[in-house]
This record gives sequence, C-alpha cells and structure tokens, in this order.
Amino acid sequence: MTETTTYPPSSDFVSTAHVDAARYDEMYARSISDPEGFWAEQAQRLDWVEAPRTIKNTCFDFGKVDIKWFEDGVLNVAYNCIDRHLKDRADQTAIIFEPDNPEDPAQHITYAELSDKVNRMANVLLSQGVMRGDRVVIYLPMIPEAAYAMLACARIGAIHSIVFAGFSPDALANRINDCGAKIVITADTAPRGGRKTALKSNADAALLHCSDKVRCLVVKHTGDQTTWIDGRDVDVKYLMAHAAPECPPRPMGAEDPLFILYTSGSTGKPKGVVHSSGGYLVYAAMTTEITFDYHEGDVYWCTADVGWVTGHSYIVYGPLALGATTLMFEGVPTYPDASRFWQVCEKHKVNQFYTAPTAIRALMGQGDEFVTKCDLSSLKVLGTVGEPINPEAWNWYNEKVGQGRCPIVDTWWQTETGGHLMTPLPGAHATKPGAAMKPFFGVEPVVLDPTSGEEITERPCEGVLALKDSWPGQMRTVWGDHERFESTYFQQYKGHYFSGDGCRVDADGDYWITGRVDDVINVSGHRMGTAEVESALVAHSKVAEAAVVGYPHPVKGQGIYCYVTLMNGIEPSDELVKELRSWVRTEIGPIASPDLIQWAPGLPKTRSGKIMRRILRKIAENDYGALGDTSTLADPSVVDDLIDNRMNT
Ligand code: WT7
Repeated sequence: MTETTTYPPSSDFVSTAHVDAARYDEMYARSISDPEGFWAEQAQRLDWVEAPRTIKNTCFDFGKVDIKWFEDGVLNVAYNCIDRHLKDRADQTAIIFEPDNPEDPAQHITYAELSDKVNRMANVLLSQGVMRGDRVVIYLPMIPEAAYAMLACARIGAIHSIVFAGFSPDALANRINDCGAKIVITADTAPRGGRKTALKSNADAALLHCSDKVRCLVVKHTGDQTTWIDGRDVDVKYLMAHAAPECPPRPMGAEDPLFILYTSGSTGKPKGVVHSSGGYLVYAAMTTEITFDYHEGDVYWCTADVGWVTGHSYIVYGPLALGATTLMFEGVPTYPDASRFWQVCEKHKVNQFYTAPTAIRALMGQGDEFVTKCDLSSLKVLGTVGEPINPEAWNWYNEKVGQGRCPIVDTWWQTETGGHLMTPLPGAHATKPGAAMKPFFGVEPVVLDPTSGEEITERPCEGVLALKDSWPGQMRTVWGDHERFESTYFQQYKGHYFSGDGCRVDADGDYWITGRVDDVINVSGHRMGTAEVESALVAHSKVAEAAVVGYPHPVKGQGIYCYVTLMNGIEPSDELVKELRSWVRTEIGPIASPDLIQWAPGLPKTRSGKIMRRILRKIAENDYGALGDTSTLADPSVVDDLIDNRMNT
C-alpha cells in the first residue's frame, strides 16, 4: 500500500493547542482503561443540578441493549448553553446571524439577548400546552428562531424534532405523526440563494394528514402573505413579545431525551434517532472544543443546516455549551456568487470553519479567484464532514482556503453517534488527505471481517467498521421502536455497534472511511435510503418496479441512479422522466431528486425474487467488466439489456 504525504501541524499551532500528540496518547489510553474516571471528569464541563454519581451503565448485548450515561445526574441543557454564561459574558455574541442576502445586515445576538428570546419562547410553548416530554416539530430555515426553539424546548423539558426545511409536506407529516408532536414551529417563507421556499404552505399541506389538535406556530420571518387558520396558527414573534421574560429551566434527568432526529437507513421508513440530555451535551461540548481546538473568543462557523445532526451538535449545542460565538448562515455557498463562504469568513473573522466535501468540490470548480481575493488570515482550523473527501478537494481546501497553515479535521461520525467518533486532532496528528485518522477519546473502533464477523487485528487491513463499547453521545433508542434500534445496529455483529460503513486501516494504524456498505447512499452529504426513493417511485401510477443505487458523481459524491420498469402499455419518454423526478421531489423533497433514470424492461433478480443491486451498481458505474457471478439470476439476459441501455443513456 502506498502511503500519502502527511501534514503535521506547525509548532506554533501545537504550542497553544488543547491537545498535543503526547496528551492525546495519554488521554486516549486513560479513556479506554478507566472510562468511569475519564467521563466523570468530563461531566464537570457542565453545570449539574445534581452531579452524576453513576457514570456508565451500558450493555451492547443483542436483546438487552441498554445505554445510560450519568443516569442519576440532573441538569438543564438550556441552562448549560445560556444561563451559566450570563455572569461573565452576557454581552458577548452568542450567535452571529448572516442572512441570505449579503445586502441585509448581519445580527449579533448576545448571550443576554439569547437568554431573553429563549425564555420568552419557552413561555410561549408552555402557554400552548407543551409539557415535559411532549414532542415539538421544528420546520424552520437557518434563522436564529431555530436555535431559540431548540433551546426553549430544552428549557421546559420538551423533546424537539427538527425536520430539514428541504423536506416535502409528506415527509414532514410522517415525522409529525411518528413522534406524535403537539406543535409544529415553522416560518412564513424561507429565502435561500435568492429564492424562497413556502414553508408555511408546506406545513399547511402536511397538517392535512395530521391530527387536528396539532398547533402551528409561525415565525413571521419575511412577512410574506400566508394562509392563516384561526385557532390553529399562532404568530410566535407576537406572542414572544408579550410573554413573560423569565421561564425557569426545568431540572431534567441526564437520560431524558433532548431530541429526536429522523434519519434514513437501508430499510423501511426513516428512524427517529433519540438523543439524551446529559451524555449528549457532555460529548457535543467536548468534541467541539477538542476537535476544532476552540479557544475563548474564537468565532466558529459550521455551514451545516440545523435540520441535520451536524447543525444540532456543532452549530447549537456544542458551541453554546462552551460559551462560544457560533455563526448561523441562512444562505448557500454560491449566492450571490462562489465567493460567499469566503466573504463571510472575512467579514466575521471566522477562526474555525466546518463544511462538507460536496461544497468544497462545488466551489473548487468555480476557480481560485473567488477564494484568493478574500482575506482568510483569521482561519485557524478547517473541518469536513458528511462523506469521504477526495484528495483533490482536500488539497485545494488546504492550499487555497487554509493557505497551508490550517490543520484539516476530517470528522467521521453519524446522526446516531451524536458527535465525532474519528478525526485527527488539529494539534496532535499529522493529517493525511482523506483519512479520518484516529478515534476520539473513549471510542474503540474495530474492523470486522464482513463475512465471519471476526475482528481483524493485522495492519494494514480493510473491513467493516464497528464500535466495541459505548460513548456518552451515542443514541439511546429509535423513537417508539427499541427493537428496531437493536436489530439495526447490534444484531449483525453481536456485541458491537455496527456503523454501516466500510473502512481500512493503514500500516500506521490510521483509519480511512471507505463509505457505506449497506443500501444507504450519500448525496451531497445527505443520507438517503435507496429503499425510500424506490417506494416513492413505485407509488407513481405508471411505475411497476424500481431499483435505486448510488453512482459516483463529481460534485455530489454520489448521485441517485434509478432503474424503472414501467407498467404495461406505458411508453418511456423525456416527459415521463421529468414527471418522475418531480414526483420524487414532492414525495420526499428536492434532496432526493433522481439524477439519472434508466428504463428497465426487467431487473436482475435471484430466483427467489431478490434484486441484485451489486450488478445494478456496477452498471450504473459503467463498470461492466466486474459484474461478478450472474449465474444465480432468474433471467441473466436482463443484464445485457440493461448494459445496452446504459450505453445509450
Ligand atoms: C454517514 C452518516 C455526521 C454528520 C453528517 C452525516 C458518512 C460522515 C464522514 C467522513 C467519510 C463520512 C458515513 C456515515 N460520513 N462523515 N468524515 N468521512 N464518511 O450524518 O447523515 O448520519 O450520515 O455519513 O457514511 O455513516 P449522517
């Protein structure tokens, strides 16, 4: 195996870093040999109403999976993200809001202002009958109210579930119903890249499929006209202005759920991933500080959307638990032009910048002047997340954005893990383009043989990636379906949490994530179950059958490739391609829009009727030489037809 160039941090960087190489080794060893002691100390990052005495109580045995951290601790998450900072930093900016339109002024929201807004919004929720443990769905764009709503829920012990504003009314309705939400919080319209999404009318459409008891709280963000149903729709800003300015934080158990976030898997409908209050916050705060080497006074920017877990942990909870200044950006990287990210970095003197490989690839294709004309001297650490980063994109990020002086942290984690599980630490490790490098503290990765399930201990090696033991940020269950939690993550490789990713370990013992090994695809860093897109397609009256796979896409990482068998008598046409695309967009949302649709008179199936996706993946990749054994197919000739067709696509 040829090893790549490594990029060690400068000695200046190391001298001020929270964790250098020696400290990493020492802390990591301790975190594994004495997890109780290690995490008891880390728990002191938070202010507890009652400090936890029981630190770790976790079981990974299939059939008995049970994960508890700090279980007798009592705390309030909003208190930890706001109130405890007021003594020293009431006037420090908590959130910088950078609007979609660069002509509009940015807002600097101090901790005192954040406190005022969150207290008021918490009182609004109480006045709407939201009680401890109730679910609140948040369907908001990237505006400060999204953070207020999250923290207001946390303050009163309600469980929030954010639905990404790019999801369709159907997807929203499914989530509202699955978690049994009492309230949906949305906005009138959401500007993004100069265009507007009609969020309120999406919510209206969704609510047609929900209990008529669900209330709709509307943030009048743009002031655009919307329909209004008296008795159901509520003007949040108006009520906040008239609400009492103080709402005491409710003491919560460390294991009480903080939020539910839906994510796609290889089968069935999206799962409601449940995260805890105490363990999650300890982990989010610690990883934010250590992975990004955050120091007091730094301005930190994560470009994700609060609709994804990255936004939860690394825009809101982690940074605010540290008392940091976190930037929220309403727009897109290419509006008004491909310089926007770098202009925002220059304007707000951003110190830590965290984005996705797909954004880097899209921007590097636009030419270097968009970056080089900006003053990026404030940047100290760069991060990436969401998918494997190709070395070309890594090098461009390093040279053009980081000007060769900013360590890049390639953070591997998942919605389920709550925070980073593997990443280089910027002051400790010499990075390698494309490698997630090392486990975070308390994380014990193992590489398993996919067939035997045996642990592979030789180095270098390749296999599937699993975790041996629990960490505080781990999800606790699937909302309403603990069995599904166990069977999804703990059944396949007994005694381990299975990530669904493949990985290799190089001769130095550094980890490289190779991508999903299940039927999950990663499109622009958005995770999608191929089964979800398939069921959307077959719900169309002209579609008899569909099989969906990922294929390499230069910007998105993976694109969505759909093989579609039409109903008898239906003729394929370009119009039908358009119709199916827009159908999937309405069923799931624009992020699931098919990139390529190939008409397939037949699909390759085994004699028992199972679609052989391995073959479909190869055809989508234009890799016909390696189709493997096709002899078990019921009708091997369909493969030749598909290949002929692919050549013409
Ligand atoms: C999947 C999780 C975690 C926040 C964003 C995505 C892929 C994530 C990396 C990385 C290679 C990565 C994995 C993982 N992934 N980060 N640094 N290198 N792959 O969260 O939607 O839950 O998706 O994203 O395949 O399983 P998610």
